[in-house]
Amino acid sequence: MPKKPLKILQVAPEIAPYSKVGGLADVSGALTKEMSRQGHDVRVITPLYGFLNPQENGWEAEPGAFSVHLGNHREEFCRLWRDTYPGSEAQVYFIEYGKYYDRHEIYTGPWGGHSDNHERFAFLSRAAIDYCHSRKWYPDVIHCHDWTCGFVPIYLNTTEYNTPLGRAATVFTIHNLMHQGVFGREVLAFAGLPTSEVFRPDNAESMGLVNMMKGGIYNSTKITTVSPNYAAEIQGPEYGCGLNHILKYRAADLIGIINGIDTDEWNPATDPHLPANYSVDDLSGKAVCKRALQETLGLEQNPKLPLFCAVARLFDQKGLDLLAGIVPWLMEEMKIQVALLGAGDPGLEQTFRDLATRYPGRVGTHIGFSNPLAHLFEAGGDFFLMPSRFEPCGLNQMYSMAYGTLPVVRSTGGLVDSVEQYSEGRSRGTGFRFEEASGKALYYAMGWACSTWYDRPEDYRMLQRNAMTRDLSWSNSASKYLDVYSWAIDARLRGMGVVEDAKPVQS
Ligand code: ADP
Ligand code: GLC
Repeated sequence: MPKKPLKILQVAPEIAPYSKVGGLADVSGALTKEMSRQGHDVRVITPLYGFLNPQENGWEAEPGAFSVHLGNHREEFCRLWRDTYPGSEAQVYFIEYGKYYDRHEIYTGPWGGHSDNHERFAFLSRAAIDYCHSRKWYPDVIHCHDWTCGFVPIYLNTTEYNTPLGRAATVFTIHNLMHQGVFGREVLAFAGLPTSEVFRPDNAESMGLVNMMKGGIYNSTKITTVSPNYAAEIQGPEYGCGLNHILKYRAADLIGIINGIDTDEWNPATDPHLPANYSVDDLSGKAVCKRALQETLGLEQNPKLPLFCAVARLFDQKGLDLLAGIVPWLMEEMKIQVALLGAGDPGLEQTFRDLATRYPGRVGTHIGFSNPLAHLFEAGGDFFLMPSRFEPCGLNQMYSMAYGTLPVVRSTGGLVDSVEQYSEGRSRGTGFRFEEASGKALYYAMGWACSTWYDRPEDYRMLQRNAMTRDLSWSNSASKYLDVYSWAIDARLRGMGVVEDAKPVQS
């Protein structure tokens, strides 16, 4: 842990509660709050998307123009808005630049990824650099999240190396290796990065293109990913998405830290989105939530039927096509209900709508993105399904455990690190895990969960108690990030030969 308060800059394409597509937003938000509460000077750079309204929210406009310096001496003027992150003293700076960010979708439009994503996120990285120079505020560490921030560590090792910002260490967190940000080489000139140095196989070049994720991994002082198991998995070909060799090469600097959950947001005892609150010692409110969820989705309001829920982006990663494929079989063989909240692949959205029509009262579907409903699903379900093909960490299984909704998950990535397998006959476990990414394996795991509900209710209660009393808060993981920040700062300064500034690290 560092001995003195650190200056930490987070560069985040999404940050809850302001902007969110998935768990990255929850993590960047929770880390910002946690680090600030521990006394560090935390600032965040993030885009002002079209759905954010600074005036309405009473955010401060920073005085004076702020400019972003791109390649070919191009200078773009933006406005910066500032808000204090709720529940902390961290400062969040929103870059207002309509051409790139005044949109309602963060990464994708109706026809797939925005066609100018390379410029949009190179711009975000450059804006982070220019923010520091313009304020003469030089962080000890810059924390970057996924490919969208991949150029920050490259700037630090090239054009910024000999500036006061060059001393900053970079920590690059891989939330999802599947999305890498691969673009034509012109993006380097656009960003003002030296092509001769960066467009090389031992840097950001990959198969004749620029790979922003690879560049971030190659150039960062330390790399983290969101669970120890995923850190091991991505060093092999099955989960390495073509970057396993570079991850193996950097293995000594790659650390897996499991995500935590923001217990201000996700706590059944205080959750304002629920019709009734509850805790491990009094679960009566959970029954009220179940009834409300059943009612919302048009399911039979029967407390005795086990309700299996899922909340997810509907993409291949999440394996919900496996669930869709076995619903008829489940409906025939098991007395259960199934509920889904999700959006994404239009074909899969339609499949789930059709299943709800085909099995009225037993299958409920809500297509769309709704945070209040996500909370109700976590609380109202009896089991929570995550048949993911891969899962770097996963937050929903942890939310569901906190809410006493037992996870049924595939043994992959962070699901292995966070869900302890039910061990029949012993008071162990917090959920049900299965190995193979197949409908059949999911079916049998759900059968096991279902038989526990009906035949071993005392075991169901025991698992529920175990799950609800686990410490899933950020405090453990935040202190691991602080260790990584210290190691990174030390390594950066030593690497630059500034040994006298390197603070001794206590871990
Ligand atoms: P990922 O980041 O891969 O989507 P995580 O489990 O880490 O997976 O995080 C997903 C986050 O997004 C959770 O907070 C979850 O509640 C939320 N989420 C996903 N889909 C929806 C949806 N349709 N409506 C509301 N929240 C959703
Ligand atoms: C990614 C991963 C998910 C992880 C989240 C936050 O979106 O898919 O597993 O929990 O990032 O780190």
